[in-house]
Amino acid sequence: MNSILVTGGAGYIGSHVALTLRDAGHHVVVVDDLSTGLKAAVLDAELVECDVGDRVRIARVLREHSIDTVMHLAASTVVPESVTNPLKYYSNNVCAMRALLECCVEQGVDRFVFSSTAAVYGHLPEGRADEESPTVPINPYGTTKLIGEWMLRDIARTSPLRYLALRYFNVAGCDPQGRVGQSTSDATLLVKVACEAAVGKRHHVPIFGTDYPTPDGTGVRDYIHVTDLAAAHLKAVEYLNDGGESRVLNVGYGHGYSVREVLRVVQEVSGTRLDIVEQPRRPGDPPILVAQSNRIRPVLNWQPHHAGLQEIVASTLDWERRNGRARPCSPNGTPVSKVSGALTVQSAK
Ligand code: UFG
Repeated sequence: MNSILVTGGAGYIGSHVALTLRDAGHHVVVVDDLSTGLKAAVLDAELVECDVGDRVRIARVLREHSIDTVMHLAASTVVPESVTNPLKYYSNNVCAMRALLECCVEQGVDRFVFSSTAAVYGHLPEGRADEESPTVPINPYGTTKLIGEWMLRDIARTSPLRYLALRYFNVAGCDPQGRVGQSTSDATLLVKVACEAAVGKRHHVPIFGTDYPTPDGTGVRDYIHVTDLAAAHLKAVEYLNDGGESRVLNVGYGHGYSVREVLRVVQEVSGTRLDIVEQPRRPGDPPILVAQSNRIRPVLNWQPHHAGLQEIVASTLDWERRNGRARPCSPNGTPVSKVSGALTVQSAK
């Protein structure tokens, strides 16, 4: 059993990761400032409500819980927001992570798993990224995550710290048992937005850009089920326990779907007709981003078990139907206010 600190463990991906680690018998402590995460998503794990950049409190948590592994997921993660508010991203994704790393080095925590992103690649000519592809991010979100990888690389050269930087592709779906899900208010991610529309929480789904150099003109992404991603984190703990060296790994399936294909699957699985509105391109979006994901499987002994857009969409629809109620929408279809109590965490089926 490891003693693991999960930063951002009250957020969408972090709550799934924390649950998977706990299901496997690890001791988990969550640190989250609850700026976007929700207390309810932590279930009955221990929650320390604080900023990752708060060195005094983080050092105390590392010491008091004898933490041996840190999983760092707390971050600002919305690509278009990073374009309009880059300083927020440098503060939350770079400065806070630097403080966390300093605590880890000082307290002798030598295993670190970093939530990196496919956004570090930027605009690749073929849109297919392996871990050696050039990293030239085209938005501040990707830039700040790349700086996180560089900090780790440099620190690992001068300290006992070993790390895995997991470059997530497009994470979607919810825990198949419905224990945690994606409760982000004012969500921007395509699968969630489309599923909210399918259950009547939004009036329409925008397609941002129909003139990309892709087969149907819309953006192509590699959608990975959050449960498979969480399983990769569990494998990462075993890898580092076994003395594995520091590495960067893509986490994706290697299959791209266009926005139109995603919307078609949402309509099929939900049995609803979506109101789709074509809009201009969104700043910071590459046309295609799909993983070359051969490396992670042998290195971590990881196999996806939930690959397939149908399953991803079905679990998201299930969550949306069972949690929250319709949010008031402005005439252009965007939610206009948060609804308190929109999350009700269901007990396991
Ligand atoms: N899109 C729409 N309409 C929407 C939402 C999205 O057409 O309402 C399109 C986007 O333009 C893009 C695709 O759907 O072509 C996927 O967009 P998302 O917002 O779902 O996800 P992103 O690709 O922008 O970003 C996500 C995460 C990042 C991560 C990245 C990796 O937010 O943290 O995937 O590819 F880095």
